[in-house]
Amino acid sequence: MTSHSIAQPETFEACAPVGARPVAPVKASLVYLRSIGVDAAHKVLKRRSRDRVLVEQDYDAGDWKREQAAAAWLLNPTLTDYAERAHLHRDLRVTVEGRLHTMPARSYYRYRRHRLASIMEEFAPDTPHLVELGSGTGAIVFELAATLPDKSFLGLDLSQRGVEVARTIADHYSVERAEFDRIDLLDPASPGYQRLEGQTVYSHYCLEQLPRETESIFRNIVAAGAKRAILIEPSFELLGMSSLRDLATWSYVLRQDYQRSIVQSARKLEAEGLIRIVETRRLDFVSSHRHFGTLLVFDRV
Ligand SMILES: C[S@@+](CC[C@H](N)C(=O)[O-])C[C@H]1O[C@@H](n2cnc3c(N)ncnc32)[C@H](O)[C@@H]1O
Repeated sequence: MTSHSIAQPETFEACAPVGARPVAPVKASLVYLRSIGVDAAHKVLKRRSRDRVLVEQDYDAGDWKREQAAAAWLLNPTLTDYAERAHLHRDLRVTVEGRLHTMPARSYYRYRRHRLASIMEEFAPDTPHLVELGSGTGAIVFELAATLPDKSFLGLDLSQRGVEVARTIADHYSVERAEFDRIDLLDPASPGYQRLEGQTVYSHYCLEQLPRETESIFRNIVAAGAKRAILIEPSFELLGMSSLRDLATWSYVLRQDYQRSIVQSARKLEAEGLIRIVETRRLDFVSSHRHFGTLLVFDRV
């Protein structure tokens, strides 16, 4: 099979959000209003300034520790089951096609892995190897590996625990196409950067963690010789201020002190002749009622 191996009909069907039930508009508005209210209260009562300590607390000592303890790979017989979180027998409230829906967890994650794979097929169709920046415990690497059988992956992350968990999962399912190692994106001398020369890199909600460093990380990625970057990071600059749905993402990004200058930083580097922006696009799906992404693709010039 070639890297175009996702046959169109299969992709089309797999991308259909099966079992999604739209939430009524009035109820959806209440969900967004409540969320904006909670974010405002948090912002006042519990100011978050995202720095290394907070990132390590949230991930290495937080989410990734809980994932290690839960060991969901022991509950899912195949990599595809794991990628689709087949062990979650419950509905999620998610955004698909830009609207709030209730949907079985497994259907959502199946839909998501095909949506992410179709982005990779669109912007890296002939690229056999993809490098994820900030791969955490490898969730996106495994979703893509389960969907794109002809591609291999390298996931890089700051978190030692994230890398360890990802390696455990790759061993468990014998995924030889997925490798994991460490990188500190803030340090251009970090050995992980040496693995970007000539590569297509992608990120999924990683640069969000480094709100004041977006531009310097772009410079590091370019200096390391990556040829294309496909970045999926929280929306902010492409949001509309007249929509409650968008305001709920806006308030959440501010509450969490996430990245909000991805497009602006890319335009700056483009004006300097360092990169060429290939695409900026709002994405219309996310595993929540808010915090959906912007897709930014650029090439090193
Ligand atoms: C929200 S998680 C996303 C993980 C994964 N991409 C996913 O979608 O499941 C953010 C990740 O960014 C990583 N990260 C934060 N700062 C980093 C840095 N300076 N260098 C490399 N990774 C970093 C964190 O350790 C964490 O694993």
